[in-house]
Amino acid sequence: MQRKDLLGLEGVSRSEIEEILQTAVQMKKILLSGNKKTPHLQGKSVVTLFYENSTRTRVSFDLACKYLSAASSNVSASSSSVSKGETLLDTARTLDRMEVDILVMRHPMGGAPHLMAKHVKAGVINAGDGMHEHPTQALLDIMTIQEKMGPLDGMKIAIAGDILHSRVARSNIYGMSAMGAEVHIAAPQTMMPYGIEQLGAKVDRTIDEAVDGANVIMGLRIQKERQSAGLFPSIREYHKFFGIDERRVALADKDVLIMHPGPVNRGAEISSMVMAADNCVIDEQVTNGVAIRMALLFMLTRANN
Ligand code: CP
Repeated sequence: MQRKDLLGLEGVSRSEIEEILQTAVQMKKILLSGNKKTPHLQGKSVVTLFYENSTRTRVSFDLACKYLSAASSNVSASSSSVSKGETLLDTARTLDRMEVDILVMRHPMGGAPHLMAKHVKAGVINAGDGMHEHPTQALLDIMTIQEKMGPLDGMKIAIAGDILHSRVARSNIYGMSAMGAEVHIAAPQTMMPYGIEQLGAKVDRTIDEAVDGANVIMGLRIQKERQSAGLFPSIREYHKFFGIDERRVALADKDVLIMHPGPVNRGAEISSMVMAADNCVIDEQVTNGVAIRMALLFMLTRANN
C-alpha cells in the first residue's frame, strides 16, 4: 500500500482492497490464536480521536493497537481541549508534534479527517465522518462476505434503510462495486439522497425489489441523532415497509447472508428472528472489524516509514 491515509473507499482500486483483505486474513489468524500479542507495531504510536460515540470502531482500533504492540491513546471530544475551544487543526498539530504515527478519527462533519490529513505528517484513518464515508466498516463487510461466499463478482447486494445519513452505505457502494458486485439500495423516499445512483448503486423503489434474488441483505441503522425532522411516521410503520423480516429474507437467494453494521435498533431495521438465524453474520462482522483495523494500522505504518 502506497498511501499515507485511508480517508474513504472512493477511488480505491480492487487490487488495493484485495491487498488489505489478504493482510486482514493473516491478522485474523493472530486474533484467533491463543497469543494475540505481536510486535508488528512495536515502536509506533496511534491516537484515536472520537468526536462521536462509538463502541465497535473505537474498541476494535484500541484492541488492534494493543495486540500489535503500538503505544496508543484515546481522545474524546468531552475529555479533550476541544471542549475548551481548541480548533481541530490546532489539536492535529499538537498531536503531530508528539510524533504520532497514525491518527484515527471519527467526526460528525464530513471531510474533517481529510482536512486533518492535509495538515499532519501522521497517517490518518477515517473512522466515520458525518454522512460521508466509513471505509473500515465497508472493508470489514467485504471481508465477511468474501470469507463466507467467495469473490463478490456478479453478486447482488441489497442495502436497505436510512441511506440518506449512512456513511456505511456510501463506502460500501464504492467498495463492493470495485469488487464486482451489483449494489441495490432501497429506502423510504425521505431517506434516499438525490443523485446517489451516480456513486454506482441501483436505486430500487421497494425493499422487496432490492432483496429479490439478493445474495446479501444489509440493513442500516435509523440515525435518529442526525434527523432534525421526523422522516417516517413510526417505528412500526418503518418496520412494515422497510424492515428486514422473514418474509423479505424468503424473497432473496436461498443462501443469502444477512448483515448490519451495528448498532442495531432491533424490531425496526431488522427483526429479532432474522438476527437469530444462522445466516446472520453480524457477530462475524464485529470480529473481522478487529482484523481489518489491525491490517490497516500495520500497512499504513509501513507505507509511512
Ligand atoms: N458500525 C459502527 O461504526 O459502530 P460503532 O458506532 O459502534 O463504532
